[in-house]
Amino acid sequence: MHSYQELSTGQLEGRGPAAAADWWREAVVYQVYLRSFADGNGDGVGDLPGLRARLPYLASLGIDALWINPWYPSPMVDGGYDVSDFRDIEPVLGTLEEAEAFIADAHAAGLRIVLDIVPNHTSTEHPWFRAARAGDRAARELFHFRPGRGPDGSEPPNDWQSAFGGPAWTRETREDGTPGEWYLHLYAPEQADLNWTNPAVHEEFLDILRFWFDRGVDGFRVDVAHGLVKANGLPDGGPVESATSPHTRPHPAWDQPGVHDIYREWRALADSYDPPRIFVAEAWVPTNERLARYVQPGGLHSAFQFDLLRSPWRYDTLRDAVEAGLHTSAAVSAPSTWVLSNHDVPRHVTRYARSQPATNVEPDWERLRWPSEPADLDLGRRRARAAVMLVAALPGGMYVYQGEELGLEEIEDIPSALRQDPTWWQMGHTDPGRDGCRVPLPWSGDRKPFGFSPAGAPAPWLPQPDGWASLTVAAQEDDPGSMLHLYRRVLGFRRRALVGAGDLRWLPGPDGVLAFDRGPFQCWVNTTEKPVDLPPGRHLVLCSGPEADETAGVLPAQAAGYIVTSPEDMGGTDLPDSETPAGGAMCEAGA
Ligand code: GLC
Repeated sequence: MHSYQELSTGQLEGRGPAAAADWWREAVVYQVYLRSFADGNGDGVGDLPGLRARLPYLASLGIDALWINPWYPSPMVDGGYDVSDFRDIEPVLGTLEEAEAFIADAHAAGLRIVLDIVPNHTSTEHPWFRAARAGDRAARELFHFRPGRGPDGSEPPNDWQSAFGGPAWTRETREDGTPGEWYLHLYAPEQADLNWTNPAVHEEFLDILRFWFDRGVDGFRVDVAHGLVKANGLPDGGPVESATSPHTRPHPAWDQPGVHDIYREWRALADSYDPPRIFVAEAWVPTNERLARYVQPGGLHSAFQFDLLRSPWRYDTLRDAVEAGLHTSAAVSAPSTWVLSNHDVPRHVTRYARSQPATNVEPDWERLRWPSEPADLDLGRRRARAAVMLVAALPGGMYVYQGEELGLEEIEDIPSALRQDPTWWQMGHTDPGRDGCRVPLPWSGDRKPFGFSPAGAPAPWLPQPDGWASLTVAAQEDDPGSMLHLYRRVLGFRRRALVGAGDLRWLPGPDGVLAFDRGPFQCWVNTTEKPVDLPPGRHLVLCSGPEADETAGVLPAQAAGYIVTSPEDMGGTDLPDSETPAGGAMCEAGA
């Protein structure tokens, strides 16, 4: 096994992107939150030079593609989701030339590139909105401007709430200082919603997609895919349960049937490329049936299944999430797309580190970020180790959020003055926001910034905790029992066992144990506090827990294992000799 330092992109050329046009159906996609990945130019913010330098590390993980959060010019009110120019690179992050060179290098390393398109809104600094604000009538038609309600127009046009808290409308101030109309923003006031009933908006986004597809980009994650089209007349929607979970029931702002017409246009464009380009939808919708509409034939290719990310660490809710995910995708012949964490939700090590809710209700992210109970991070990491083995054993594709391969926890004590997420202000300081899962990665060394920036750089844009020295990439490279090694082994196994394809068959397991058959192997996930017996005659070939002993026929507590009838049955799918500890069982030490 090479350490990542030994690999160069030249050595990786042979891997090249697989020819299969449907690579995305089973892909492992690693999410890069660029500002927090690696700082190449020493300004405390992650950037393209930093990312490019770490390509060998990424290739060493056994992933197929990278999804990169928005890298376009942006005032950075919402971490780049407030885009002011969709055809360039934010100067703090790099240049267009660097992006092109990076795409070429990533391809040479066998990694495809999925960008993030933000079609629901633009920054209020986008030339379109600036023209609208200056009174250009055609430009105003690109957004949703409306007179206010009430005798003097001082009330918002309807009762919609921003997903970040507060009204979804802001009143403009005319050049002479008098109040004018209101404009719609489902997120921050600096993110004005586009009017997708205007053909010019359709044309513009098709052109933006072409711009990046022509530069070799392999696909797009579609931000807020369920938000673009609003119900005719923008009617009131009634009260929302929680501003940050506004998508749990039908609402005129969200998930309108017209969105699918847009995606049919996009799909036709993507299919006109060779190889075809792909899309993955971020669509927070009330039911899996609604989600399936995004991936119906002729629509988008895949959509994140958020059920696992929403599920507590509980046998019944995990099983329901898997079952529902498989069922939804099967109905429309789309692959399931599994995800445990992303840049919007508390990291799963921390979600699993506290007592788990009894039911799979929509998680209360505010409460999760404002914990009332101390976190048992050892337990959280132990469960997270089992969780990646569960997800990697499922048919379909999976996403890995940067830092989860290091077992990073949510940082819950970022000082208020250093918080960056607009949720913090818009929610009136009742929700600390999403900064805690966006803290810059630790790469090496014993002291901050743990190799994130070169020596002499200012402090990273969000503060790292003191305690990450043992979680750096360098420290974990040296520890065969680390989370990083576990991820490599699990993803390597997944690739060799062709786990992404095929069906899943549930097996009867002991209480609290998810057990399923995947053809060449079985996956068992023990969510209980007690070890459980494995079926006789089965061998544990990979295990997340520290105490596993293949000869004991036991799966440890809070651990997952892959088991086979006989290791030889795995044929070419077993792990390389160098990965096999003495005794043959590829079981892992602690976190
Ligand atoms: C998506 C992004 C989130 C962003 C929002 C508005 O949910 O994942 O980070 O704040 O869209 O663009």
